Amino acid sequence: MGHISGFSKMTKIEKIEFLSREFFDNPDRSKKLLKSFWHPDANAQKIFDEFSENTLTNFMSPYGVVPNLDINGKTYCVPLVIEESSVVAAAAKAAKFWSSRGGFKATVISTTKAGQVHLIWDGKDSNKFQSFFETVKDKLIEETKPLTSNMEKRGGGLLDLKLVNREADEPGYYQLWAEFETCDAMGANFINSVLESLGQTFKNLAQQYDAFNEDEKQVQVIMAILSNYTPDCLVKVEVSCPVEQLDDKSHGMSAAEFASKFNRAVRIAKIDVNRATTHNKGIFNGIDAVVLATGNDFRAIEACGHTWAARDGQYRGLSDCTVEDGIFTFSLEIPLSVGTVGGLTALHPMAKFSLELLGNPSAKELMTIIAATGLAQNFAALRSLVTSGIQKGHMKMHLMNILNHLEANDKERDHIREAFKDRIISFTDVRNELALIRKYQ
Ligand code: MEV
Repeated sequence: MGHISGFSKMTKIEKIEFLSREFFDNPDRSKKLLKSFWHPDANAQKIFDEFSENTLTNFMSPYGVVPNLDINGKTYCVPLVIEESSVVAAAAKAAKFWSSRGGFKATVISTTKAGQVHLIWDGKDSNKFQSFFETVKDKLIEETKPLTSNMEKRGGGLLDLKLVNREADEPGYYQLWAEFETCDAMGANFINSVLESLGQTFKNLAQQYDAFNEDEKQVQVIMAILSNYTPDCLVKVEVSCPVEQLDDKSHGMSAAEFASKFNRAVRIAKIDVNRATTHNKGIFNGIDAVVLATGNDFRAIEACGHTWAARDGQYRGLSDCTVEDGIFTFSLEIPLSVGTVGGLTALHPMAKFSLELLGNPSAKELMTIIAATGLAQNFAALRSLVTSGIQKGHMKMHLMNILNHLEANDKERDHIREAFKDRIISFTDVRNELALIRKYQ
């Protein structure tokens, strides 16, 4: 099959018919499969179809909850969308563990976001460009008022504007650097609209600036876009308890040994990039799942988190641990730019449901919930890693996937669960055991 032309112009049914015919041995089966995942309510399905383009159907993922996550004295039932087995169970276990040790303490440190208009100005005298900027700054801000007035009424808006000289990195390169408060919205559309307006006005005003010669009047706007790196939209969450309270029968070591091994594991993630990547992946298992469930942009959150992890030039583990004066403290400081109004949060019925489940939090409160889930997930992973190893718990949860893959019936499932209660689970062993039962049934 070569290039397909006119695909986007086809109706949804035509697209399905076409692809099923062209790519599948059994077109009827593919059509049936795609349609089986449509929402039974055509109006609800239309909403999903219109989120994206060339939509054929929906791709399901499990929606689960961590029921008892205590943050700042409030108990949350946290929704997670994730397909990986054992993530929800691990977070729930960590939430329970910490609920009897004071819960999670979270603080929103800052909520400012930034964006840049990337400019080229080829004039020789950067001071002259700076004076031009100072002269037109108020006018630039004034011209954005039609876009910012609503946000200002809600307590946000354009906070600051400056000209940054980046000529040392690229000839003629400057940035209009704008800072924003977007309240309960993630604010991407708001920020991008304001930036585009700033770029256009700046370019026009340069044309009219008498102190510039004809060449200097030429400002080239390369692009205007928010930055998904939001180091000033920062939340900190921590758990803490006396070391002796880490005494937990299930890990089979003393509290002091556990604290020491755990602390080492966190430090290893700080110094070794291989471990740091996996360590942070575990944190994002929790973070992304809540971000998805609440209709936020997990790509933006991830991109930002990884840049933050490399902020001193080396990619490092995101969490911190101390064991001092008999007190174990485990914390996570991370930028999280999320919204609880606007975007998908209002349109996706399950995102709306998630926010209601969380008590309709403000964006700041949601930052604390997401960070705490990330830390809970990281605690659970490290706890397993430094004690029993990760596979014991993981494979127990994964057993369900193996049984589904092997199309085991209820009786067979009961048998296998019992048979593998104290055995190491592997796909081959489960398959062999199942073959044995089937042979003698
Ligand atoms: C698996 O999805 C995540 C872990 O690998 C995280 C970690 O190693 O810290 C368990």
